[in-house]
Amino acid sequence: MKERNRKKPVRIVETAFRDAHQSLLATRMSTDQMLPIVEKMDRVGYHAVECWGGATFDTALRFLKEDPWVRLRRLREGFKHTKLQMLLRGQNLLGYSHYADDVVDYFCRKSVDNGIDNIRIMDCLNDIRNLKTAMKATQAEGGHAIVALVYTLGDAYTLDYWKEIARRIEDMGADELGLKDMAGLLTPYRAQELVQALKETVHIPVAVHTHYTAGVASMTYLKAVEAGCDSIDCAISPLALGTSQPATEVIAETFKNTPYDPGLNQALLGEIADYFSDIREEAMKTGLLSPKMLGVNIKTLQYQVPGGMLSNLVVQLKEAGQEDRYREVLEEIPRVRKDFGEPPLVTPSSQIVGTQAVLNVITGERYKMTTRESKRLLQGEFGQTVKQPDPDVKKKIIGDLPCISCRPADLIQPQLPQFEKECARWKQQEEDVLTYAMFPSVAEAYFKYREAQQTRIDLDVADTVHGVYPV
Ligand code: CO
Repeated sequence: MKERNRKKPVRIVETAFRDAHQSLLATRMSTDQMLPIVEKMDRVGYHAVECWGGATFDTALRFLKEDPWVRLRRLREGFKHTKLQMLLRGQNLLGYSHYADDVVDYFCRKSVDNGIDNIRIMDCLNDIRNLKTAMKATQAEGGHAIVALVYTLGDAYTLDYWKEIARRIEDMGADELGLKDMAGLLTPYRAQELVQALKETVHIPVAVHTHYTAGVASMTYLKAVEAGCDSIDCAISPLALGTSQPATEVIAETFKNTPYDPGLNQALLGEIADYFSDIREEAMKTGLLSPKMLGVNIKTLQYQVPGGMLSNLVVQLKEAGQEDRYREVLEEIPRVRKDFGEPPLVTPSSQIVGTQAVLNVITGERYKMTTRESKRLLQGEFGQTVKQPDPDVKKKIIGDLPCISCRPADLIQPQLPQFEKECARWKQQEEDVLTYAMFPSVAEAYFKYREAQQTRIDLDVADTVHGVYPV
């Protein structure tokens, strides 16, 4: 135990290429914007650079017309000393519903194969059965599996809950335990208490991830590191704060000349910050980066719901012409969450609970109207909730529909052969089937675009040849 709590340098994971631009720039940073600074980033001393997964895959294909696999390979070429990290939503991979094990296995293997070192794997219900296939596949390919717990508040989420589930994750064979506070709910002293408890429970390293949204995140990291946390996620200052992470340079400076000193090269960090400042300025000019995202949103802590969820509610109420009922919906959210077995509020459970709360308020009768997703959650199709859903509410919503208690993916037949068949017409590399499996229609549109580009280049070459050698 003593050894585990020994004061040691904290590892810094830089999020500029994933969470930071996902949080502030709608994930629109292109590979061409990333590559020029990679050589410097590689010399800073980061433990890892988070650069793939989450929304980056979808956005690259859909809006930037880029192949995410090509981006990964180019980053891998550039980062010769720094580990590359990605985020994966467990059995959902990068999508919103469960995949069969063959797809999960192949996706993780190909990610490692193309250059990912660390895969951070999470599940929206903290149902660890949904994390195991991805973890095993990552490790089988030689990758480092960080199994992450989604941090949330609620009656069920006692210190004992966190310790017990952390123990199960270690027993399952995870290389590292992650604490993923995507809503920025983790306050400094709570972090201290929680990290201490986790460090007393498991032997594997503990990584903490949080967001600056509520304004406490830098202090949260300070207390977490003092309590023995091994690794924290930060963003270079022009892409930090607001809904993003604490600033890398600030955190590095804070721990300077202490046993926690991450040993980052501050001069290089300054040059890297200059580079990203230009990208920030540009995004401010075009409106991609809204000043709204940069302030402190204390409501996140007051209502204990993610900031993104609050803005969704406003949109839904506006559409129904009932904006004045915002407060009622805010009060309804914790009640729905309780009825549904107190799930953490992250994608997709946050949307399910939020939408149901809106329906309950605007129809004037609780659960008079429900969504298909509410039904699926109560039927167990996302996995097990930490508590049993309220039996009366469950009866009212799903009636006699069947429920499952097994791991949802146990009921899904292998899917790869079908995906292979469907995308055969477009396939140019092995990874294409995975791109297609994640987002079939977006992938198809991208594949068509890619083919058209290639035809155009062929024609250009033909023109040039004809120009030089007139026939
Ligand atoms: Co995050």
